[in-house]
Amino acid sequence: MHDVFLMSEGRTVKGKANLGGRGWLPRHPGMWKMLIVVMCVALLGCLQAQELQEHVSIILLGATGDLAKKYLWQGLFQLYLDEVGRGHSFSFHGAALTAPKQGQELMAKALESLSCPKDMAPSHCAEEKDQFLQLSRYRQLKTAEDYQALNKDIEAQLQHAGLREAGRIFYFSVPPFAYADIARNINSSCRPGPGAWLRVVLEKPFGHDHFSAQQLATELGSFFQEEEMYRVDHYLGKQAVAQILPFRDQNRKALDSLWNRHHVERVEIIMKETVDAEGRTSFYEEYGVIRDVLQNHLTEVLTLVAMELPLNVSSAEAVLRHKLQVFQALRGLQRGSAVVGQYQSYSEQVRRELQKPDSFHSLTPTFAAVLVHIDNLRWEGVPFILMSGKALDERVGYARILFKNQACCVQSEKHWAAAQSQCLPRQLIFHIGHGDLGSPAVLVSRNLFRPSLPSSWKEMEGPPGLRLFGSPLSDYYAYSPVQERDAHSVLLSHIFHGRKDSFITTENLLASWGFWTPLLESLAHKAPRLYPGGAENGRLLDFEFSSGRLFFSQQQPEQLVPGPGPAPMPSDFQVLRAKYRESPLVSAWSEELISKLANDIEATAVRAVRRFGQFHLALSGGSSPVALFQQLATAHYGFPWAHTHLWLVDERCVPLSDPESNFQGLQAHLLQHVRVPYYNIHPMPVHLQQRLCAEEDQGAQIYAREISALVANSSFDLVLLGMGADGHTASLFPQSPTGLDGEQLVVLTTSPSQPHRRMSLSLPLINRAKKVAVLVMGRMKREITALVSRVGYEPKKWPISGVLPHSGQLVWYMDYDAFLA
Ligand code: BG6
Repeated sequence: MHDVFLMSEGRTVKGKANLGGRGWLPRHPGMWKMLIVVMCVALLGCLQAQELQEHVSIILLGATGDLAKKYLWQGLFQLYLDEVGRGHSFSFHGAALTAPKQGQELMAKALESLSCPKDMAPSHCAEEKDQFLQLSRYRQLKTAEDYQALNKDIEAQLQHAGLREAGRIFYFSVPPFAYADIARNINSSCRPGPGAWLRVVLEKPFGHDHFSAQQLATELGSFFQEEEMYRVDHYLGKQAVAQILPFRDQNRKALDSLWNRHHVERVEIIMKETVDAEGRTSFYEEYGVIRDVLQNHLTEVLTLVAMELPLNVSSAEAVLRHKLQVFQALRGLQRGSAVVGQYQSYSEQVRRELQKPDSFHSLTPTFAAVLVHIDNLRWEGVPFILMSGKALDERVGYARILFKNQACCVQSEKHWAAAQSQCLPRQLIFHIGHGDLGSPAVLVSRNLFRPSLPSSWKEMEGPPGLRLFGSPLSDYYAYSPVQERDAHSVLLSHIFHGRKDSFITTENLLASWGFWTPLLESLAHKAPRLYPGGAENGRLLDFEFSSGRLFFSQQQPEQLVPGPGPAPMPSDFQVLRAKYRESPLVSAWSEELISKLANDIEATAVRAVRRFGQFHLALSGGSSPVALFQQLATAHYGFPWAHTHLWLVDERCVPLSDPESNFQGLQAHLLQHVRVPYYNIHPMPVHLQQRLCAEEDQGAQIYAREISALVANSSFDLVLLGMGADGHTASLFPQSPTGLDGEQLVVLTTSPSQPHRRMSLSLPLINRAKKVAVLVMGRMKREITALVSRVGYEPKKWPISGVLPHSGQLVWYMDYDAFLA
């Protein structure tokens, strides 16, 4: 005799079945069938019996906080409703620092407003709620002993009820400064026994920039395994966002040919809010809209739209890999890639809530629009606009893919039919929520294709006359979820089922911060444009983009707020012309400086090509020229690339494909975007005979011969140099005498920093150039800039001081950070 559990109307009922005994063998063939059915049911029952024993403890830390009240308790209740009939038992521990009595009262309040699905009968709802409340207890979790007691209680409960433990979920709905302590306590005293899982759920913010995110990740990584951590980005639980990959997958056939730069005009990823930051300024003042929304929610949506589609879109590992590829292809952001704004009453709210003096003006942006480019074959040249703001005229979120219109329609407009005319707008919108539509939706212009969606989505009708994104709703195939679900409840279900594809892994997080941090740093002192808020914003925040830059469409109006003005803007300064070491100096804020240098290089190139038919340009590596390369790549359509020869000033002794190689920088930021004939590109031969910079391979001599063969008089038209903080230039270092004089055109040298081995043009060769430009940027260069301004010709100590073209011109390009010491 075995105990079996049979399902009766979704509930489990315990019974007995006699399955044994050789004497009980059916003679009739029909009886065999029945026996098999009975055995299957019994087996299923046994499996369910095993599952029934599985218990899950959910510990909600911050159980009386805002997020818990608004979403998490409701999400847990939904999880309970969904899963309890499926062979799991639960206990819910609401936890906080508050003492038990007061905590209990607060938690009871938070639980008052639980609601059931619309189709559940009120009596049934009351019953379920009651059971849920019985399973939910408040407990104070403050000290290490509190955590030990929690562990003991869970174990005692399991033993008492004869349950097998499936796992424990700890949901951190607490500020990040509390993470480390809680994590330590869980790790040391609340891990479940062998065979059961631990899942810890973390809510943003996950750091403030790349460095702090890395620190936090390292700290958490010392307590938890990567697979134990579930970092929530609640936008990944929004139904329309969660539908992006499945939609792309299910409609592969139609989208395969459309989802690329040839067909997509632009992509907009937008989250507008009407609320402001009042009541949250202590958080907001530290973060601002880019950290609060763009770095996470909007970036996640961007990766889902842009990633190469994995074969299996529900494989967490494949999704992550493809996301990371998108991050790798993102073009670095510059100050000019973004516009920022701040609603007018923000500073006043900060002064009031954070007790700041009357003179305080915040620079924290509450509105931002950013132009993002993805440098890969699929998306090159397609603008991705990310935009979010508080105190705007409406609340709405969407990702809109607008397709190019390459058709000409011959018949007059009145004959255009929505489903056929290629001249009507063609767009696909993942409507995340709110707005005039009021719900999540997927909209596909009828002239694109009829999409296929899972059965959990239904065709929708909107209010009559509704227009969306310039077209009547009737011009779209429009779908909405059969059952709307809150993002947190979707994610709680994914956590419960261990579905990691909807969460942010450490690698993903750091890649995102790596992308946003330079922009955040460059905007740190930028005064945001003030806007009145709501409908009154008018066209004040409208923006445009071209040549890789994004700017407000309207001039900055008169200041909206009287009082001390914002910090001076770069445009308040003119480009400064002066002398440095007796040669011309151009100085400006970095952005203008780069544009000026790029213009000068283009002008030199055009002149050289006009006179000699070709232009020989030798470029340095390192970080300063990156912005220049990007500028040349995106904003110089008149550049005679077809007649330009590109040479390297110096190179590290690593393979050319190594990210450390100067050639890689040139390739990533310039070469892949412009059309230089391949025989005009001259990387340094540092890698010969499968080894790096071996004297015997004569790489330096080979390069020198190539220069002599192609460059008249070995005199480059333009050599771009930098200046190191130790006074080095090219790869000519103070500690290494090679290349400062003598006959050699190209030399092998030694750098004090890794990789030590280098190849470099020699000073004599550099000084044969017709023009030498030295680019110096950033605060780190202040000291050396001041020092070198005073020294004479001392190349052994400061190789840069040996740069004196014999008959050519030397021009210094320094940004104010480096120069205004
Ligand atoms: C949060 C931000 O992550 O998302 C808030 O911190 C923002 O500032 C919120 O209001 C918006 O989420 P939702 O779900 O209302 O669109």
